[in-house]
Amino acid sequence: MSSLRVGAIGGGQLARMMTPPAIHLGLEFKVFAESEGSSAALAATQVGDYNLVEVVADFAKTVDVITFDHEHVPLAVLENLEASGVSVQPPSKALAFAQNKLHMRQRLSLLGLPMPAWSEIKTAEELDAFIAQQNGVAILKTPIGGYDGKGVRVVRASADASDWLQNIENFGGSLLAEEKVDFVRELAQLSARSTNAEFAAWPLVETQQVDGVCSVVIAPAPRSTGALLERTSEIAKTIADGLGVTGVLAVEMFEARDGRILINELAMRPHNSGHFTIEGSVTSQFEQHLRAVLGLPLGSTAMREDYAVMVNLLGVDENNTFVEHFDKAMARHKAAKLHTYGKAARRGRKMGHVTVVSDSLDFALAEAKGAAAVLLQGI
Ligand SMILES: Nc1ncnc2c1ncn2[C@@H]1O[C@H](COP(=O)(O)OP(=O)(O)OP(=O)(O)O)[C@@H](O)[C@H]1O
Ligand SMILES: [Mg+2]
Repeated sequence: MSSLRVGAIGGGQLARMMTPPAIHLGLEFKVFAESEGSSAALAATQVGDYNLVEVVADFAKTVDVITFDHEHVPLAVLENLEASGVSVQPPSKALAFAQNKLHMRQRLSLLGLPMPAWSEIKTAEELDAFIAQQNGVAILKTPIGGYDGKGVRVVRASADASDWLQNIENFGGSLLAEEKVDFVRELAQLSARSTNAEFAAWPLVETQQVDGVCSVVIAPAPRSTGALLERTSEIAKTIADGLGVTGVLAVEMFEARDGRILINELAMRPHNSGHFTIEGSVTSQFEQHLRAVLGLPLGSTAMREDYAVMVNLLGVDENNTFVEHFDKAMARHKAAKLHTYGKAARRGRKMGHVTVVSDSLDFALAEAKGAAAVLLQGI
């Protein structure tokens, strides 16, 4: 192989964080971004609309493989690329299940995988019947277009979702109702599968969500039995092989109070639960993703230290881009690795993260949270 050229669709922080390993490996890395000044604009960037077949096809001619920063590219656009011989990784037939949570539930049911009780909802009557079956409370989701907890709601009656039910065509004609899982914690199993079907899993992690948005990730997930670890990596492998996933696959899961391990959702790209791998693992999820979609051998997923803790930096207002507080944060928290994504500041927006690796979990937690607090509050 002389030159290896990867094109990522989407100019967000995930494409941005693929750039350093692409540079280290000497790959040609290009980004198809939705606008100028995107988070990934550090890479060679073309700006365009990913809904337009012709424009995406032109971009694809300049690379050897197309991959993704997000899962929103219409399947028809990807099928068109594939029909003309472009290597799309993950392929459209796999990505379809990351685009639509209802299709994902249907497909994983066929694989016999453990999930919360769920039902496809088309009418208020169906929703009320499901809520009654679930003892008066359920989780309702829009099957497409949700992220960071948008598109997820607790419902106690169909009236709680009248806006979604009235516009149900916008969500593909159906909603997804789920059992409200009584969980002790949320977990994520990150893995990668190459175009040669090589599979590698990182250690299971614990993820903590605030208002539906990932806030803290602890690697490896504390207090995990060998049986749990075996079970979650087996689930990831079954999904990766069964759906024909290539690249990084994140499987979000619940550990229910009654001991069940239940799959929440899938992402077929580097994922927030895997940012710790940049400093915490021998091979980061971003490097592994590039290797996997190019059909190169995968790297070791071993931890470099016993623990890694990642804390997300969500925007507080329109002025704080966190860079203003680097001085104080760096002076006080020398073990903290600071990451910002070059995004305009906005309340609630994922704008960066902090990672600390250590042989002490208590230290990693305190140092990462301490550094994040300085960046967020400036004190
Ligand atoms: N069935 C459920 N039972 C209990 N809590 C749930 C359920 N489904 C989702 N949640 C809570 O809502 C959060 C967001 O749900 P989900 O991951 O489906 O949405 P999303 O908006 O796609 O998230 P992401 O931020 O991962 O893009 C979950 O992390 C979990 O805390
Ligand atoms: Mg999620």
